[in-house]
Amino acid sequence: MKTFSNPSVAIVGATGAVGTTMLSILEERVFPISDLRLIASSRSVGNVIETTWGSIVVEDLDTVDPAGVDIALFSAGGARSLEYAPHFASAGASVIDNSSAFRMDDTVPLVVAQVNDEAIRSHEGIIANPNCTTMVIMMAAGPLHAAAGLRTMFATSYQSVSGSGHTGIAQLASEIDHFDSQRSNLVTGGWDEPDGDLYTRPIAYNVLPLAGSIAVVGYTDEEWKLVNESRKILDRDDIAVEPTCVRVPVMDGHGISASMWFDRRVDLDEAVAVLGSAPGMQLWDDTKVPTPLDSAGIDDILVGRLRETIGFPGGISLFAIGDNLRKGAALNAVQLAELLLA
Ligand code: A2P
Repeated sequence: MKTFSNPSVAIVGATGAVGTTMLSILEERVFPISDLRLIASSRSVGNVIETTWGSIVVEDLDTVDPAGVDIALFSAGGARSLEYAPHFASAGASVIDNSSAFRMDDTVPLVVAQVNDEAIRSHEGIIANPNCTTMVIMMAAGPLHAAAGLRTMFATSYQSVSGSGHTGIAQLASEIDHFDSQRSNLVTGGWDEPDGDLYTRPIAYNVLPLAGSIAVVGYTDEEWKLVNESRKILDRDDIAVEPTCVRVPVMDGHGISASMWFDRRVDLDEAVAVLGSAPGMQLWDDTKVPTPLDSAGIDDILVGRLRETIGFPGGISLFAIGDNLRKGAALNAVQLAELLLA
């Protein structure tokens, strides 16, 4: 694997919700950078962004020359990744791609930092950053899998609107304003539809039991990511994953309620011992319930409501919540970039 001591770094999608978080995490972690390039669409070209590495003018992805870029962090959507990530890789860059474009490609490692770091070594130019919901639950499932072998996981997500980027955040904010003057109608009915079609139904004061879009046999693309990416990250094809992905009116933070069963019985003491010492996460007891407001803006995944399963004994149930823009996307991408440092 090619490593770098003072790389030239590009952020593709630098003006987006994840891209701006990537930039601030690179700054916070004092990532060694010889030259930083910020790339977005023609809409943002010429905008100047102030950074630790100076004032940087945003470049247009359609016309950019990737020569000289060592590490490229992509978060501009799957279509842009499919078109441009191979172009950057063939120009010599190691691409860390936050989209779903290459995640299930056999030649592309899918890596959760601190869970399956060693997988990155096999990369051939592109490394995939997992889906933000999968990432959060893998931080808890990974250490338990290493201890006891994960066989079955029932998982229901509670996904925030920042998972849909700046547009998701703006949509929830405008719907909250829209409903402000009609609160009694939210109880008795008769409310007016808000503007916007980002989600199939209003998201403010609501819960949408369908996140993403229906893909195969009634499950959404988000749900299939949870199935397929979990198996690839944990390197076990026969893990049974039963997913339901739900969008909730939360600005930031994806939560997952999961029940897991292993090759052998795992009791509460063992789960506390494993998760209490796992990296990148905090285990909270029931005196401190982890919520999205607690996880917003922090690096650690928060895990709580840890208990032994009662319906089908022998397993463990828990609730995990993480900042989907940070560990769910930008932080993990930067942690993977750190694995590329010499
Ligand atoms: P831009 O701000 O110029 O539109 P978010 O996920 O918050 O919506 O952000 C998406 C990111 O992807 C932004 O940086 C956006 O740039 C970028 N992007 C979207 N479409 C394109 C495109 N066609 N070419 C390059 N970058 C794009």
